Amino acid sequence: MRIAIIGTGNVGSAIAHGLKGKGHEMIIGTRDPDAAEAKQLASETGSRSALPADAAAMSDVIIFALPWKAAEAATKGLGDLVGKVVIDCMNPIGMVNGALGLVVGHTSSGGEMVQTWLPEAHVVKTLNQVGAEIMAKNDHLPHRPAMLMAGNSETAKEKAAALLADLGFAPLDAGDITKSRLLEPFAMVWINQALFRGKGRNWAFAAVEGRAPLPDYHEFGNRHV
Ligand SMILES: NC(=O)c1ccc[n+]([C@@H]2O[C@H](COP(=O)([O-])OP(=O)(O)OC[C@H]3O[C@@H](n4cnc5c(N)ncnc54)[C@H](OP(=O)(O)O)[C@@H]3O)[C@@H](O)[C@H]2O)c1
Repeated sequence: MRIAIIGTGNVGSAIAHGLKGKGHEMIIGTRDPDAAEAKQLASETGSRSALPADAAAMSDVIIFALPWKAAEAATKGLGDLVGKVVIDCMNPIGMVNGALGLVVGHTSSGGEMVQTWLPEAHVVKTLNQVGAEIMAKNDHLPHRPAMLMAGNSETAKEKAAALLADLGFAPLDAGDITKSRLLEPFAMVWINQALFRGKGRNWAFAAVEGRAPLPDYHEFGNRHV
């Protein structure tokens, strides 16, 4: 795939490193393509750097790795992105009542807002539920980490799932874009554990599935399920 990664911060750099050598053509979309950091990232990951709108115009898949406060203006500056797959890694985080929290939620979500800003693109919310480091490398984890995704287009989710697999994740389809309302608070669960409960950043969620059938509920005397 030809992929634009918009933003050269923690997440953009991590995804570029994670996708290195996986057969994709990557273009790093940055406000300063000539900056030494952008050139270094491009050289380390076998990609090239360009202005965000140019990177997006040249690509079929566009990954948004931007701060939420910059998201609307930056997104709209990329054009309408008709028919393109947009992977939204952003969490709508800010200070809420004096603590880090979601500034959008319950009855809407960042993912839905991005889809509203780009009505002709196929937005997939994903890669928001784990720290950036684990996006770059996760083969040291004892289980394959799970990564949920939400979006309206099945074809776009198939492409996103292929990229998630290239990054070492087991993709899980959560449903349409409104399910971003579940995925963004889920990111807060990771953040709470990592930053405020002392767990650190070297972990991810995994889906652990039974190999034997479930026992009959009636064995436990539960006759109401
Ligand atoms: N950090 C994590 O572990 C993590 C994990 C999951 C999801 N997320 C989400 O992913 C998004 C990116 O997080 P991040 O940690 O990569 O952020 P970051 O390190 O601050 O990087 C964001 C990048 O966005 C670009 N950018 C474009 N317009 C900008 C503006 N007006 N102000 C600042 N930067 C601007 C910058 O790249 P250029 O200067 O090259 O343009 C910047 O390096 C956030 O929405 C965050 O919630 C983060």
